[in-house]
Amino acid sequence: MWETAIKLSGRVYYGPTREFGYTADLPKATKLHEVRLTGLKPATTYCYRVRSGETESETYQFKTAPVPGTNRWRMAVYGDSRSNPAVHRLVAKQIARAKVDLIVHTGDIVADGRDHDSWRKEFFQPVEPFAHSVPWVSTIGNHERDSAHYFSYMALPGNERYFGFDYANAHIVCLDSNAWIEKGRDSEQFRWLEGDLSQQRETTWTFVAFHHALFSAHARRPVNSLRWDWAPLLLDPAHRVDGVLNGHDHFYARNWRMGRLSEQPQAGVLFLTSAGGGAGLYPSMSRPYVALQKSVHHFTLFDFDSDHVTVTPIDINGKEFDRYVLTKSPTPADELCAYEVEEMSHFLRQAVAVATPVRAAEGKATVINDRLRIPTRFRIPVCGELTWERVPGWKTKTPTAPFMLQPRQALEIPLEAEVAPGAYSKDPELTIAFKPGQFRNRTLSVSPFQLVGPTRLTIQKTVATGALDGKLSARAWERVTAHALLGIPGWGGRDERVQFLADDQWIYVAAKLGSTAAEHDQVRLVLNGGKVTHTFIVPRNAPRTAAADGGAKLTDSAWRAALASSKADWTAELAVPRSLFADWSQVRLDFVHRYNVAKEMRELHLCPSYTMGTDPDRIADWKAVPLPERWAQVSLE
Ligand SMILES: [Fe+2]
Repeated sequence: MWETAIKLSGRVYYGPTREFGYTADLPKATKLHEVRLTGLKPATTYCYRVRSGETESETYQFKTAPVPGTNRWRMAVYGDSRSNPAVHRLVAKQIARAKVDLIVHTGDIVADGRDHDSWRKEFFQPVEPFAHSVPWVSTIGNHERDSAHYFSYMALPGNERYFGFDYANAHIVCLDSNAWIEKGRDSEQFRWLEGDLSQQRETTWTFVAFHHALFSAHARRPVNSLRWDWAPLLLDPAHRVDGVLNGHDHFYARNWRMGRLSEQPQAGVLFLTSAGGGAGLYPSMSRPYVALQKSVHHFTLFDFDSDHVTVTPIDINGKEFDRYVLTKSPTPADELCAYEVEEMSHFLRQAVAVATPVRAAEGKATVINDRLRIPTRFRIPVCGELTWERVPGWKTKTPTAPFMLQPRQALEIPLEAEVAPGAYSKDPELTIAFKPGQFRNRTLSVSPFQLVGPTRLTIQKTVATGALDGKLSARAWERVTAHALLGIPGWGGRDERVQFLADDQWIYVAAKLGSTAAEHDQVRLVLNGGKVTHTFIVPRNAPRTAAADGGAKLTDSAWRAALASSKADWTAELAVPRSLFADWSQVRLDFVHRYNVAKEMRELHLCPSYTMGTDPDRIADWKAVPLPERWAQVSLE
């Protein structure tokens, strides 16, 4: 293929020597010339030159594909070459130096596939060291934007989105994993893939390439939901997939081989991300299924040699920073990840997300007597142990318990505990540990207890509270209930309490709060009267503010607040006018202590409500959300 600035006809001179001897013509005038050369011998070097109008290229060389079955050859895999042409060029130089037979790009070739000029700057110029001599195959990335330019510049088999081809002794499949195409089990692509992988072949190796990793080493990216549809197909031993090649996450990550457990020893599938082709690097993280990850610009060399393939990533200085020998031999149990465990962690997360929260008892111990049922899809019996973390204020009934699962048997987790009244500093975490010797990813941990606050809040009447000094010095506070502030499961709470009182004019709130070392420390009283939510914010080190969502904001003189700090903790008192709402029986209330720990925001609530986040490493990664319908209904005495 070549491109001209104006429409011209095209001709290719080619042959085994610089004398050429053959020509192929494209008589139709066009800008983008795609000429098919036929009758070539395999594993043969040809010289060629192209001509359009009066312009002729230099003489270049290419080598045709090896004889089918050839077991010594080289492939370069790389991706995400977009956005930094200078770095892409350095990567391309290393690829050219490696003298590979074939290049497979894992997608995101350019920053915006719709921008015609970017193909010249980000693709054609940087790949100049190999573009005229090495065959190129790619999978489409999200940055190609499904653009017509991608399909016109690529000369790929089939529909150019998902296709398979044999090269030397390998079968290579490329897929489209982007949002714009149907990918589920009913989709055309899925059915095509199933059909392609089921075919009997003479080839030794099978690699499947697509842009978005199913088992990413990205530090923050949520699980790619495509995992649950595609991984079972790719991991099916009948499909003989050896490796899955991905891009999108700008680093190198080599996972432990993964498989579905069976009585037979197995090699498992290598999932590999090679996406350091030029784009800005991303933070990577060692998840249980990740063997080695490095955020570095690179390409990955696949050196095929009879019964093994040596996989070596090479950085822009030509330095190898990993070496892995891919074979068909069974992988030792402690190096093989069980897909069923990743699947189980997904089911565990779903079970926790729909579990009924536990209402914290007021002034007495909270007794929890519940269970979580986690489906599993193991095909062989597995066993292990459940262990509860010991934390102050919590008494779990069975601190450790063995478990044994028959194939497809659900894991029943007893949630039986007694929580001491008042505040508590942390939730107990449960560790599910499978016995050693069966697979590598042996442990899962979960913080399953979700405590919620009172549904009703009775505010006692007082004659006089005394001075509002922030020190909780008024005698009246000694007689009223102190409600614990509750934290997000996993982190849990701290020893913090809030109290309420009222007289004819004011609603009083007094809070005893924890550490003064936190940053962005503040308390918030939120009152929802149906349409209007009033928020009173009292930061420890900044002026107080009142905000109203859906109603008139209160002036500073209409409400009061006072703080007192000691070295270890701080206290706050607030007074808001009863005139704020005509009918207090319609009002719902929450009290929040918000602060930062290592730049991450934490919240303790009187009436917490949570939603599930996207962090695949924490079960469950609850995030606090304001849900007035879950706040305590106020009852004024
Ligand atoms: Fe991407």
